[in-house]
Amino acid sequence: MSTNNEGSTQGGATADSGSFDSLMRENRVFPPPAEFASRAWIKSEMEWEAMYRRSIEHPELFWAEAAEELSWSKKWDKVLEGTFPDPKWFTGGKLNLCYNAVDRHVEAGRGDKVALIWEGEPVGQVVKLTYSQLLVEVQRFANVLKAHGVKKGDRVAIYMGMTNELAIAVLACARIGAIHSVIFGGFAAHAISDRVKDCDCRVVVTQDMSYRRGAPIKLKEIVDAGLESCPDVRSVIVYQREPKFETPMKAGRDSWWHEEAAKVSAECPCAEQEAEDPLFILYTSGTTGKPKGLVHTTGGYAVQTYLTTKYVFDIHDDDIYWCSADIGWITGHSYVVYGPLQNGATVLLYEGAPNFPEQDRFWQIVDDHKVTIFYTAPTAIRAFIKFGVDKVRKHSLASLRLLGTVGEPINPEAWMWFHREVGHENCPIVDTWWQTETGGHMLAPIPGAIATKPGSATRPFFGIEPAVLTKEGDPVPNDHGGLLVIRKPWPSMARTIWGDDERFAQAYFSEIPGCYFTGDGARCDADGYYWLMGRVDDVINVSGHRLGTMEIESALVAHPKVAEAAVVGRPDELKGQAIAAFVSLEYGLDPSDELKQELRQWVAKEIGALARPDDLRFTPILPKTRSGKIMRRLLRELATTGDIKGDTTTLEDFSLLAKLRDNDD
Ligand code: WT7
Repeated sequence: MSTNNEGSTQGGATADSGSFDSLMRENRVFPPPAEFASRAWIKSEMEWEAMYRRSIEHPELFWAEAAEELSWSKKWDKVLEGTFPDPKWFTGGKLNLCYNAVDRHVEAGRGDKVALIWEGEPVGQVVKLTYSQLLVEVQRFANVLKAHGVKKGDRVAIYMGMTNELAIAVLACARIGAIHSVIFGGFAAHAISDRVKDCDCRVVVTQDMSYRRGAPIKLKEIVDAGLESCPDVRSVIVYQREPKFETPMKAGRDSWWHEEAAKVSAECPCAEQEAEDPLFILYTSGTTGKPKGLVHTTGGYAVQTYLTTKYVFDIHDDDIYWCSADIGWITGHSYVVYGPLQNGATVLLYEGAPNFPEQDRFWQIVDDHKVTIFYTAPTAIRAFIKFGVDKVRKHSLASLRLLGTVGEPINPEAWMWFHREVGHENCPIVDTWWQTETGGHMLAPIPGAIATKPGSATRPFFGIEPAVLTKEGDPVPNDHGGLLVIRKPWPSMARTIWGDDERFAQAYFSEIPGCYFTGDGARCDADGYYWLMGRVDDVINVSGHRLGTMEIESALVAHPKVAEAAVVGRPDELKGQAIAAFVSLEYGLDPSDELKQELRQWVAKEIGALARPDDLRFTPILPKTRSGKIMRRLLRELATTGDIKGDTTTLEDFSLLAKLRDNDD
């Protein structure tokens, strides 16, 4: 099935990537399976080529045609106005995204189709909602929000586990034009208060608890701790996931979702939104200590999430679609909620861990619900490989027809395993490259048309013009590493950072004038395929979760015993990258194992368990250049190889190197 395609393999990496060597050697090509292509939306490379060319030559025509597939209460005047850093899409147009995701399917007579299948972590807990039922629930909750004073443009924080109610809360906000700010349920109290305060949320939606590996995570108690420093929050609405647990409720502020919903009507009209009205804020890590609240708007986001779901997942009416990402991340916003529901799909949501109660839980779910499209992260695939092949081979998986990955580069070995053991060699794999900032897929194969190569996110989506450039903005030849940029605006791009237009322009559009700077390194091969090489900035990617090294450093220095801290990523077989922290203590304090554990735990408490350093080493001082910059390159090398061989000529204190080595575990 694989054909050899010898390509040139020289190149200069600009980024760290554990699997870089094997990526440079990768030359297998997998054409779309004929049967898949025969029923796909786009059936051949020729067809793709013609569409792509047109989308680049006439982007406004292309995106206008895509937008026609959605419902607008008023048609746009102009498809695109302006350019980076401030483009506007579909100006003059009016629509409601909740209407497009829910109502219109009911109005088209498809109300009895299942919209959401919720699978709880405890085996046997399944709740299905049809589009008609979803519509009722969303309207009720929209009315609850209104009853709590939420108006168009107000921000609503949502801190929940993976439940149907999380999707309902999100859609209810969209329905009334409130701006949702979903905070991933794995974040700690501190992260909640930062986010609630940053965009001034007055209403918070949460749930009592969620299950993770059989244990209750008491989300409401974490919210309470976070809100101690948020006196402006007037309402906390709590979805009751599990009545058997006692949940503290604060009189005058807290109320139960089900009690509130019983008081309101099941009818709530959709607010008419301008195309450029904000839809949501989603915080993500950047190169500074403070997470960025990226603002996404309505029209362009609707169109691109709709169209990418249609073409990249080749979604059809009979598909059962499962994206294993949490709604708390952009993947969940775009490809659990908005993209698939706008396409009228049946979407599966799973509450719990992949290895609970057994390591084959995911495959059990695929078989139980006859999942046809399965979208997950490379880190999960690497974990499945570790669980052993018998876990997956126990299950038929015959319903699957398409697989997808997202979040980090996939090493070809993991790709091949996914292809063989899960896809049984007849499911295309769509490796989708995109970001919180891009809102929707940017690089991804169109599965009936584009041959895949293990480890490559392949070609750009329609209307997307990527390039690989040097720092100076010059094109880099094929097969050489450089900076990945996007040359033209696209509909679902973030429009700003909440309250900080300046930082938005600075972070994304100042590095390479005229282009959007992704922060990723990449190379493009002679066939026009892109190979991602990891971040080139101080962002690290741990199990597909994005973290800023500075964010972890600020958490560490907030500890009273820490004087200074530097955090770097090092390659990790399972997580992609692991977090290595170097810490110097306040004068007179001695390092100890207890303190090491205390500091690791401290970071987990400050940010969330996902930020807990894997390694933590004490050092008397940190290596700095003469100008006082921390030499991360050295620390990265030390964390990776246990030694430093690189150039140290600008190191302030040579003896420090010996000390750092001595402190090695
Ligand atoms: C960063 C964005 C967008 C969904 C989840 C992550 C890395 C994402 C891929 C991929 C190689 C990838 C990049 C990017 N990334 N997808 N298919 N291949 N790298 O969103 O948290 O905003 O992180 O994830 O480094 O910049 P995010």
